[in-house]
Amino acid sequence: MRAGKGEGAVSGVGSAGAGDAHAGRDGGEREIVFEARGLTKVYHMGEVQVHALRGLDLDLYAGELVAILGASGSGKTTLVNILGGLDTATEGRVLYRGRDLTRADDHELTEYRRHYVGFVFQFYNLIPSLTARENVAIVTEIARNPMTPEEALALAGLDHRMDHFPAQLSGGEQQRVAIARAIAKQPAVLLCDEPTGALDSKTGIVVLEALDRVNRELGTTTAIITHNAVQAEMAKRVIYLSDGLVTRIDVNERPRDPKELTW
Ligand SMILES: Nc1ncnc2c1ncn2[C@@H]1O[C@H](COP(=O)(O)OP(=O)(O)O)[C@@H](O)[C@H]1O
Ligand SMILES: [Mg+2]
Repeated sequence: MRAGKGEGAVSGVGSAGAGDAHAGRDGGEREIVFEARGLTKVYHMGEVQVHALRGLDLDLYAGELVAILGASGSGKTTLVNILGGLDTATEGRVLYRGRDLTRADDHELTEYRRHYVGFVFQFYNLIPSLTARENVAIVTEIARNPMTPEEALALAGLDHRMDHFPAQLSGGEQQRVAIARAIAKQPAVLLCDEPTGALDSKTGIVVLEALDRVNRELGTTTAIITHNAVQAEMAKRVIYLSDGLVTRIDVNERPRDPKELTW
């Protein structure tokens, strides 16, 4: 599958130069990792139907750091859960490297998540009785090609706190343990749903720096889902989500260093 094919509904919507976003560093076309078409999600709550996604089209490219930006309720979490195989769409399809996740059964989705996807959520979900190193080790023990917990924690900027328990770490440090845990299996994609949502801006920036470093050093396709427009400035592409649809795609020719951001 080639980049640039079938980008239909979202092409031409972005700002000038958006086409360049499909070019890799060498100027060649980039491989599509996720291709979503007509993605629809309807939640049923008794009599009421909630349309969380309304026929969304989206491409994500190999190795990119992309921001998905939208207000609360715009469908970000629903989208990221479907991309990550935690949930399934009501209609439409999403291909992961050509593989149709919408047709996968539970077992296949579990395998897909286990081997290809790292998640970072707003809340860190660490096991309180395990140290930072042990929290990461529970993943590396079952992964196919893991880095060591020490390597993962160092990449996340936490090599000096490996033997601390979660309660002995700040929120930002706990989130960096969660990042280390997510990347330790060397996932192809890292999906981060409001990763700084529970943090003050100074701490949030340190977490964003860790994500930026992982993307640069491992080449992990990284999606940062946020409602914070300032954070989106660190991404090369910014995909705007509104009311369950992609409404715009911008390209930052000069993504900002997370260190320069303030909000
Ligand atoms: N499990 C659910 N059941 C019913 N409605 C839901 C559920 N999850 C999300 N929604 C609704 O779907 C819409 C999109 O939600 P969500 O994807 O969480 O948006 P965001 O992450 O951008 O805040 C919202 O209107 C929300 O209330
Ligand atoms: Mg959300």
